Amino acid sequence: MAETLKSLDELVSLCKRRGFIFQSSDIYGGLASCYDYGPLGVELKRNVKNAWWKSVVQMRDDMVGLDCSILMHPMVWKSSGHVDKFADLVAECKKCNTRTRVDHLQGTEGAETTHHSHGEEQEHTDLSGKVCPSCGTTGQFTNPMPFKLMFETQMGANVEDSMKVYLRPETAQGIFANFRNVMDSTRIKVPFGIAQVGKSFRNEVTTKAFIFRTREFEQMEIEFFCQPGTDEQWWEHWKEQRMQWYLDLGIRRENLKFRPHASDELAHYAKACVDIEYRFPFGQGDWQELEGIANRTDYDLRQHQRGMRSVTKWFESGRNTEKTSLVEEPEDWHKGPLSFFDDEARERYIPYVIEPSAGADRGTLAFLVDAYAEEEVRGEKRNVLRFHPKLAPIKVGVFPLVKKEGMPERAKAIYNDLRGYFSCFYDEKSAVGRRYRRQDEAGTPYCVTVDGQTAEDNTVTLRDRDSMEQTRVSCDKLLGLLREKLDM
Ligand code: GAP
Repeated sequence: MAETLKSLDELVSLCKRRGFIFQSSDIYGGLASCYDYGPLGVELKRNVKNAWWKSVVQMRDDMVGLDCSILMHPMVWKSSGHVDKFADLVAECKKCNTRTRVDHLQGTEGAETTHHSHGEEQEHTDLSGKVCPSCGTTGQFTNPMPFKLMFETQMGANVEDSMKVYLRPETAQGIFANFRNVMDSTRIKVPFGIAQVGKSFRNEVTTKAFIFRTREFEQMEIEFFCQPGTDEQWWEHWKEQRMQWYLDLGIRRENLKFRPHASDELAHYAKACVDIEYRFPFGQGDWQELEGIANRTDYDLRQHQRGMRSVTKWFESGRNTEKTSLVEEPEDWHKGPLSFFDDEARERYIPYVIEPSAGADRGTLAFLVDAYAEEEVRGEKRNVLRFHPKLAPIKVGVFPLVKKEGMPERAKAIYNDLRGYFSCFYDEKSAVGRRYRRQDEAGTPYCVTVDGQTAEDNTVTLRDRDSMEQTRVSCDKLLGLLREKLDM
């Protein structure tokens, strides 16, 4: 009987032991909430990103890709609202001085919520029943205050042209800032979407649970532009598409659900938002956000039109983004530079935007958690990661049964043949049973073993990770069979 994951600790130790994920700067004692992906982890996360890209760009006629720089003109973040509003409301414990997100404080009335305030929440919250997570004192907090989440840095060598810039807190704004460029350089027409994968940075107040919430992370975001009035339909479309993607890659149905946002929880730009949640083995309620699908309306493009007209003011302020305020929107805003002329509808409008925004690291964690199983096999414990073959870091392990009688040479030849098609691992060390276990733990779906019979009839054993069944396969048919089984 297989056991699934009970706590994250087992997974964290497997990830370190097998080279999936390490703490950043480990040799210096670590850097809080930053993580590095090791040899297996980098393959896994890349497979997650590639599967996403294939599904949302390669397989669709109405999507294109983009890769923006992380540093952008600081006015981008003024227009988007991040400079003024992207903050968490925090309260400081008067006893131990620890700052905690107000929406993460727990009291008698129950669990935390996990969304960012985006500066919208009331600062007059009653914290009398809340408990400090650090020292356990109840109700001894300062008044809540906003804590800005964007990392800042300085750009430029000369005093006169240097300025404060930000590390992007989402990849989305790079897409809005390139909407016109993409329209002008391709023949694509609304409705269409732009996809981007890349790093984002947030100076999170509370980080959490391994790679779940970190200060540097990767996002996989889509901004899908559509005619106002068709936005609700497209929102439904993306909800279904994105849920199906997780299911198709093997996440169990019972561990996924939609959670619609309540109206007081919506970010200032959103008309509606639903989260895809996964049942993680931590926290109070277990169910945690994997991905958000928001209806951002025409908010961002309209804000950038205002921002574009405010650049002179920004120069006049001495490049002081905080002090620059955006000019008012002109009456004919719907004809502005980020509008679109719809040939079919014979009208000009600013498109509405549906935004499915997923975390690559958070997704990777969900795939790891869901794949993890512990089993008893003939009195021995086996750890196995039952990854979908598309996500498995290594697709095929190739072994000689023993290091003699020409077996290593034959196995090497097979390995060299197969590795041109998928990532393979050659291993001739220790007993073959142990080699199988190591590949189970790495999530490798198939292992091929060359043995004494191979020299006689040109067959090998093909071992299945999940059923542990071994079948004999002719070497001539091996590649075709594996390509079929792995669907690649
Ligand atoms: N552009 C919209 C946006 O950024 P979000 O809900 O703040 O929305 C989207 O982030 C996704 O990015 C989340 O669902 C999550 O998967 C991931 N994410 C956000 N903050 C993260 C963090 N600190 N660490 C890891 N992943 C994070």
